[in-house]
Amino acid sequence: MQHNHERVGFGSKIGAILAAAGSAVGLGNIWRFPFETGNHGGAAFILIYLGCVFIFGLPIMIAEFTIGRRSKASTGGAYQALAPGTKWKWVGYLGVLTGFLILGYYSVVAGWTLEYVWQAATGGFAGKSSTEFITMFQEFSQDPLRPLLWLFIFMLLTHFIIVKGVEKGIERSSKVMMPILFILVVLLAICSVTLPGAEKGVEFLLKPDFSKVTPDVFLGAMGQAFFSLSLGMGCLSTYASYFGKDTRLGRTAMSVGLIDTFVAILAGLIMFPAAFAVGIQPDAGPSLVFITLPNVFQQAFGGVPVLAWICSVAFYILLALAALTSTISLHEVSTAFLHEKFHFTRGRAACIITCGCLLIGVASSLALGEWSSYTIGGMNFFDALDFLTAKIMLPVAGVFAAIFVGWVLDRSIVRGEVTNYGALRSAYYPLYIFILRFIAPVGIVLIFMNELGLLG
Ligand code: PFF
Repeated sequence: MQHNHERVGFGSKIGAILAAAGSAVGLGNIWRFPFETGNHGGAAFILIYLGCVFIFGLPIMIAEFTIGRRSKASTGGAYQALAPGTKWKWVGYLGVLTGFLILGYYSVVAGWTLEYVWQAATGGFAGKSSTEFITMFQEFSQDPLRPLLWLFIFMLLTHFIIVKGVEKGIERSSKVMMPILFILVVLLAICSVTLPGAEKGVEFLLKPDFSKVTPDVFLGAMGQAFFSLSLGMGCLSTYASYFGKDTRLGRTAMSVGLIDTFVAILAGLIMFPAAFAVGIQPDAGPSLVFITLPNVFQQAFGGVPVLAWICSVAFYILLALAALTSTISLHEVSTAFLHEKFHFTRGRAACIITCGCLLIGVASSLALGEWSSYTIGGMNFFDALDFLTAKIMLPVAGVFAAIFVGWVLDRSIVRGEVTNYGALRSAYYPLYIFILRFIAPVGIVLIFMNELGLLG
């Protein structure tokens, strides 16, 4: 807490919203959301997802904002500042570790987006058949060197922005990248929806098929909401520690939730109508973005090669920007922790994190090719990391954040943060507390058990 008076912060409310939205909008929206939707009944999944975001995601986001802004510390120090001398500090450390590990493997996929920008821009997609797209992706992702090159470039970009600081690095870059991202996502969705034969894809996304709704769909939607909103590892609480005292936590959470959902649905509107228009089943799975989609763009706009070129390049730039605003937030969690806890300069803290994440990234990348025979619990290193962080560490830390604010933190602080210490009305306060105390912990425990296959 000793840094409070000299602590840097976001320069404006809009900057704070765009940075937090940048963390939330990422590969989870454009890569994971469409195939989850495709897998789980289209619009029915979307309706349930919306319910999860608003009933359960936003209160936890406000709780994380509360922890960050009140403590004025990165997540690693926040619990210690708010509950000194207790074991709660370990929840903060868990968040830092989770962010560090996620950054390691997330950057590998983020690097792939740059390879695809490059391929799209240099005409690498032109004239390829669907099987050639499969081979292209497999050869690239299993290559020992090329993905590492892009991984390094991506990490360096992230590093460079982090070193510039909170206002000049994170906030300024979000203010530039997020508007470009919105424009690209809207334009690409318009292109896709206006293709002849696109209606089937639109219908798939907007007409609910409730026959596909099982408890599994419900829990899958909660898990997706959690990852997509960057909850559970203190990313948003670290950003909230840079919020001004007049930033409205409820309103900011609502804006971030709406932006994140808007981008996810538009990503669906880019992929499904275009895929249906050319008669390709939007095959569920991670391959959607790196194998199906380049093929869809070639076929859909193949008659006008310039349009195929523009759409492919724009799409992968969109993906790279979305990934970059998220890797920045992941990096910031650990950098801010080292900076505050061990009093390293920001530059030195960022170097340590960048080097550490590169090591994890190299191992994760090689695990998909050369090192695929080394397994942990039957999974390669990349999949094992994904499983450990997204499916175990995030939900565990999320339950603790909800319990901490719902049950442990002083009531006057919890109410004070939501109302900006009396400046705002708080009609939803009782509901918010009820969700934090009961609904969110139970919901997250259910996701957790489902992910581990404990619900049968
Ligand atoms: N929300 C990001 C996405 O949807 O891709 C991923 C993410 C970023 C998860 C930051 C967790 C986090 F703390």
